[in-house]
Amino acid sequence: MALKITVIGTGYLGATHAAAMAELGFEVLGLDVVTEKVAMLQRGEVPMYEPGLEELLRKHVAGIEGSSGRLRFTTDPAEAADFGDVHFICVNTPQKHGEYACDMSYVDTALESLAKHLTKASLVVGKSTVPVGSADRLAARLAELAPAGDEVELAWNPEFLREGFAVQDTLHPDRIVVGVRSERAEKLLREVYATPIADGSPFVVTDFPTAELVKTSANSFLATKISFINAMAEVCEAAGGDVVKLAEALGHDDRIGKKFLRAGIGFGGGCLPKDIRAFMARAGELGADQALTFLREIDSINMRRRGQMVEMAREALGGGSFLGKRVAVLGATFKPDSDDVRDSPALNVAGQIHLQGGQVTVYDPKGMANARRLFPTLGYADTATDAVRGADVVLHLTEWREFRELDPAALASVATTPVVLDGRNALDPQTWRAAGWTYRAMGRPAA
Ligand code: UDX
Repeated sequence: MALKITVIGTGYLGATHAAAMAELGFEVLGLDVVTEKVAMLQRGEVPMYEPGLEELLRKHVAGIEGSSGRLRFTTDPAEAADFGDVHFICVNTPQKHGEYACDMSYVDTALESLAKHLTKASLVVGKSTVPVGSADRLAARLAELAPAGDEVELAWNPEFLREGFAVQDTLHPDRIVVGVRSERAEKLLREVYATPIADGSPFVVTDFPTAELVKTSANSFLATKISFINAMAEVCEAAGGDVVKLAEALGHDDRIGKKFLRAGIGFGGGCLPKDIRAFMARAGELGADQALTFLREIDSINMRRRGQMVEMAREALGGGSFLGKRVAVLGATFKPDSDDVRDSPALNVAGQIHLQGGQVTVYDPKGMANARRLFPTLGYADTATDAVRGADVVLHLTEWREFRELDPAALASVATTPVVLDGRNALDPQTWRAAGWTYRAMGRPAA
């Protein structure tokens, strides 16, 4: 009989994983503690913007006309425990308030509330990004709490999905990593991932700590790559070089590769910033803090970008105060094709300028509602043109396709002063300059 799967936590990771598991042919039950979220998902609505996710969900949610009916949602952990052969834990692990370490309370609660109802054989699989050593601790907790004893086991299977590509990354992962303690666990996970494995996704079997470390070290590497090119942008800025050309030339070396070398206002989001901090904190606890002190520099290069963008805007406005100046901000999300504004560099820059007296108007294709909730005191416009109308300077801070497709000539006619600062090195300088704009970007020479 086909395996039954539960997915605990229905955020970006969990909702996508649940829908993908249904797409792979399994019966799936999603569990969340937030009643409204469960009600939305049960109606086939996705509580966030993720391309392709709503379609996939509606294809499988029970009760929707024409759906496979393989996907349901509940708030009851006992129902989930009774239903699943494999339980995926996909809850959030945010940064703790006031410290670098990761807040494990959602993972702990998710595991504990499920474990006490586990009366039959099953595999609990952690997907959340956690400090190394957590799986070992959680396995012991599971053994203590689960009535089925030895029949219940833990495995660790980190998730590498990117927001904006979550569906594709989940259905066609570039690798599947499983930390297991038994052949039985490995066999079950091979069964769960049989389709992507058959399609060619590499399947890497490890112990618990290695599986946990693959995720945090992958994110550290990506963060390092971005901060590296941003450091080069600072040097280019000082030396009169062009970081975009530099990155292009570096990228032709296939040991370096061209991805993740886009200089700009740096990385943000719910993962990279907090993951490198939690990794440093954990290394400290393990007595290996020296190994990761470089991440402190990666973090500070990254955070410095935001301040530099603010200074660049000040300079463009004549170098004095922001008081009475109108600043248009294009982009609020931490990256395009997402509505996620968590630790968004764009909003951070907008907020800093606003706090210094600038009149900031923000427009984002999908992130407006979340941005308004987080920064209710900023100005918001319904279109890019409305945001730019009357602006003394325009800041391009999230590289949505919509912004690359804007007509610079039409925009120039509504701005007070046609000056654009490209915080993502994504607009075409020639086109904008030809349309009458003064175009400046970080790490590139002025015209
Ligand atoms: C990241 C990892 O890529 C993913 O594997 C992991 O599972 C979760 O964390 P995500 O947070 O969705 O995914 O975003 P990602 O595409 O990695 O971008 C992170 C940030 O880096 C964004 O703010 C983006 O704008 C920035 N970035 C990315 C750059 O500034 N330059 C680049 O060249 C690439």
